[in-house]
Amino acid sequence: MNNEVPNHVAIIMDGNGRWAQKRGLKRTKGHQKGAEVLKKISEYVYDKKIKVLSVFAFSTENWKRDKEEVDYLMNLFIKVFKKNFDSIKEKGVKIVFSGLKDKLSDKVLKAMDEMTSETKNNENGIFNICLNYGGQDEIVEATKKIAKEVQNGTLDISEINSKVLSKNMFNNLPPIDLMIRTSGEFRISNFMLWQLAYAELYFTDVLWPDFNEEEFDKALDSFGKRDRRFGAVKK
Ligand code: FPP
Repeated sequence: MNNEVPNHVAIIMDGNGRWAQKRGLKRTKGHQKGAEVLKKISEYVYDKKIKVLSVFAFSTENWKRDKEEVDYLMNLFIKVFKKNFDSIKEKGVKIVFSGLKDKLSDKVLKAMDEMTSETKNNENGIFNICLNYGGQDEIVEATKKIAKEVQNGTLDISEINSKVLSKNMFNNLPPIDLMIRTSGEFRISNFMLWQLAYAELYFTDVLWPDFNEEEFDKALDSFGKRDRRFGAVKK
């Protein structure tokens, strides 16, 4: 039992498509409902004194979906970034993005820029949105940045350690304590591989559009009962 509140919670918000299909609706309706759920959960998280929330909004593999669904998601992001996160901004949460900039339209990039510049001085928490994101890409990009520093002579190979790696990720975030994945899939799916090293994993059958505060509390309860040893032997 650690009985602690996790510092960094990460969520793979899975099951939007299946939620919609089960109701005879278009998959996009599931994303629309999913965005409403994220708004509520993001507010709840910071009320619970959790400092960092990371969410998987769009993976580098999601471009393979039908154009209609990809376009819908991109427009949803623009809309949602403009209005859904006002309350967490007011709570003093800083919003950051992790992912590659390529392939994203100017409109999406502008909406992202507005969110980050508006909240850049906030210090009460971090909301990290993984968009056009892949965990292996993140490590590859960090490796390139570090290699460049070595090449320029500003860093010696002997100075490379896990802190240096963390600093060169898309954002320098603390390790993830609790990772939640909805919809009954037991995979990591290339999500935040570096930051998940010692995370406790929580899987639920609930589809993301049906997820709510009560389900989030179940994940927190489960986390509170875990015995975290970080590779050591408990005395
Ligand atoms: C996975 O469900 C979900 C996504 C690929 C999109 C997640 C996006 C949202 C929750 C919308 C709001 C997000 C932000 C950051 C504003 P799926 O489509 O893979 O579902 P399936 O496995 O049932 O097909």
